[in-house]
Amino acid sequence: MKNRIPRELVECGATTAIVLGSGLGPLVEELEPVCSHEYAALGLPVSKVPGHAGRILVARLQGRPLLIAQGRVHLYEGWSASEVVRMVDFLREIGIRSLILTNAAGTVNPDFSPGSWMMLSDHLNLTGQSPLCGGPHFVDMTEVYSRRLRSLFHKVASRQGTILHEGVYAALPGPQYETPAEVRMLQRLGADAVGMSTVPEAIKARALGLEVAAFSCLTNWGAGLAPGHLSHEEVTSAGRSAASSLSDILREALPLI
Ligand code: HPA
Repeated sequence: MKNRIPRELVECGATTAIVLGSGLGPLVEELEPVCSHEYAALGLPVSKVPGHAGRILVARLQGRPLLIAQGRVHLYEGWSASEVVRMVDFLREIGIRSLILTNAAGTVNPDFSPGSWMMLSDHLNLTGQSPLCGGPHFVDMTEVYSRRLRSLFHKVASRQGTILHEGVYAALPGPQYETPAEVRMLQRLGADAVGMSTVPEAIKARALGLEVAAFSCLTNWGAGLAPGHLSHEEVTSAGRSAASSLSDILREALPLI
């Protein structure tokens, strides 16, 4: 299906876009919107998962345009990897050069507590799928998450006195959360956090030559690392309460990209 591209999205001149994951809507609540388009009206796939909006907003941050994609679709909803990354194609087409991805994730690193943020240094694609099937083939993945952007975000976080972890994100297909045995496996594989998104978009963005950064909101301990059970409600409400510290970092860092 062909995307419909409204002229105002191209003419706004935004070169940086943020994709917001589960419960991370508050990141943009204080921004003044310039325009807004529903995914459905743009020909983009729409998620049915509670807590995921489906809207592109353009807002101004210190006078500069910033594009915000509120909501994404997931492999576990039955979308193919190439459908999951249609958003990335769309953003590239309207002139985006830097892509900031966010997600909610479980922490499997005992030193990274729930409620904090982790910037991705690398990932493990354990989804069993790639958005590049059919081409382009053999794209280099040595530095998916830009060193330049990571260093910028670390500088801003330390100036603000905010803890910003950095680590490896393991993407599983879901939709179920992991078993305790799977969490132990992920720890042995070198993962720090686990989730069900972001990696297809990051792979596609690199294939299109975009600069990528990604942040996990660590909403819960991985299964078996703490007493109790996991629930989607717990994950989205933890995301909402952690949103403001990333919002402070982004507000200061984005104009410097
Ligand atoms: N596992 C997978 N995905 C998640 C989790 C988790 O523990 N928390 C938030 N998204």
